[in-house]
Amino acid sequence: MQDIIRQLDQKRASARAGGGEKRVQGQHAKGKLTARERLELLLDPGSFEEWDMFVEHRSHDFGMQDQKISGDGVVTGYGTVNGRLVFVFSQDFTVFGGSLSEAHAEKICKIMDKAMQVGAPVIGLNDSGGARIQDGVASLAGYAEVFQRNVLASGVVPQLSLIMGPCAGGAVYSPAMTDFIFMVKDTSYMFVTGPEVVKTVTHETVTQEELGGAVTHTTKSGVADLALENDVEALAQLRRLIDFLPANNKQKPPVRPTWDPADRDELSLDTLIPSNPNKPYDMKELIEKVVDEGDFFEIQPAYARNIITGFARMEGSTVGIVANQPMVLAGCLDIDSSRKAARFVRFCDCFNIPIVTFVDVPGFLPGTAQEFSGIIKHGAKLLYAYAEATVPKVTVITRKAYGGAYDVMSSKHLRGDVNFAWPQAEIAVMGPKGAVEIIFRADLGDTAKIEARTEEYRQKFANPFVAGSRGFIDDVIMPHGTRRRVCRSLAMLREKELSNPWKKHDNIPL
Ligand code: HXC
Repeated sequence: MQDIIRQLDQKRASARAGGGEKRVQGQHAKGKLTARERLELLLDPGSFEEWDMFVEHRSHDFGMQDQKISGDGVVTGYGTVNGRLVFVFSQDFTVFGGSLSEAHAEKICKIMDKAMQVGAPVIGLNDSGGARIQDGVASLAGYAEVFQRNVLASGVVPQLSLIMGPCAGGAVYSPAMTDFIFMVKDTSYMFVTGPEVVKTVTHETVTQEELGGAVTHTTKSGVADLALENDVEALAQLRRLIDFLPANNKQKPPVRPTWDPADRDELSLDTLIPSNPNKPYDMKELIEKVVDEGDFFEIQPAYARNIITGFARMEGSTVGIVANQPMVLAGCLDIDSSRKAARFVRFCDCFNIPIVTFVDVPGFLPGTAQEFSGIIKHGAKLLYAYAEATVPKVTVITRKAYGGAYDVMSSKHLRGDVNFAWPQAEIAVMGPKGAVEIIFRADLGDTAKIEARTEEYRQKFANPFVAGSRGFIDDVIMPHGTRRRVCRSLAMLREKELSNPWKKHDNIPL
């Protein structure tokens, strides 16, 4: 017995020591925390239950039989975040560079399987040199086992990835299939092939950071959702995100007590929209004034900034916010914004999170760049996402809602449950100038006539009443009452039931 306990202590000490003091110092010198330090910050104090501390790799090649470290480079288990259950894995870069062996993969798969059975989120803290080279094809098999589970868990439990070190080659595809990816600036990167291979194949010279750093992926590629300054901030933001999410696809979103009255009027909204319809205003200001306590968790704030996506609460309950941003590209829909918002809408629908949409959209962005890159297919993604969503959908048209973009942005026709318009709303096939130039082309030389026709069109169509007369909007509301009316609508919709026809799965345009 004493002997077993001594062995137990030794193995636990070996697991806790990871790759040893020198490598831990190396990790700290790079500004990175260790796998266990990260878990301490992520989880509620004392809540972590570790599994598989004694797992070791099974490799006998290249002297690996003499290098066994308990836990094999990944710390796994479960714990709580603000009292709510989550499953976690945290790769230990100090052990074989956090590389993934067959045994390492089995540990990750074990917690993923259990998370799906009990209905709790999976959080992956990624810091790995990729497939364990000495493990050969067994490590590739291990990756594929993880990938398979990422797919099966998708839409069942939230999956969240933090990239806190290297993530390269095929290894990127596990985080890529999770719901949200946060990256740490300067210390993390993701790419399919690194700078050396890029140089050989395409003769481009690029640094790791430029090719796949946090800023690149949150501004250019849209692969990641947030770029954080350091490990501590990344873990704190992840905790904040988890607070908004239900634990699985059968639960309703969590409700948190709020001091913010549901019937709070916000008088400043009455003057938010400039009198000149071509002048922008900040849609974020509107969102922050309408939601509980001004608390808005923005997703992908630096990518496709012409659309805003993120989580907030109304009367304490989580909602997903989608809003056109007139400050960027006049709020037009383009490829990137359609993809960004479509993925967000689909996440909300998977996890029973009602969607509140604020619309100020002059249309789709014209141009060869957009057409050649497939705006038709990509724009269809957002249309598709809204149309298939069965969660409560409340829409507020603040100003422009023109053309196909009107239809797309959670219109009544796509089963919008409650559709409001502000008095300044312009809901029509296109803006007055474009419309007159087409239907009165013969008068184009006559400025006075064109001006008169434009004014006539504006009076007739650039208002909320034509849509109102058809029941396409349910009411014209005063901006200051937006919070009250949206809260009431969401309360009315709380027990909404709607389902789509049976199908194996849909075929969203990819
Ligand atoms: C085994 C590895 C490893 C790996 C790193 N190490 N990557 N061991 N398999 N894949 C070990 C190193 O030997 C070293 O051990 C320790 O981890 C730290 O590595 P360093 O190179 O000293 O660290 P650093 O300079 O920070 O560089 C990190 C790195 C580099 C950029 C990740 O190690 C690297 O390029 N590794 C190889 C990456 C790679 O090609 N992976 C396979 C990709 S293919 P010691 O004992 O010295 O501390 C892939 C396929 C997935 O992943 C397929 C899925 C479908």
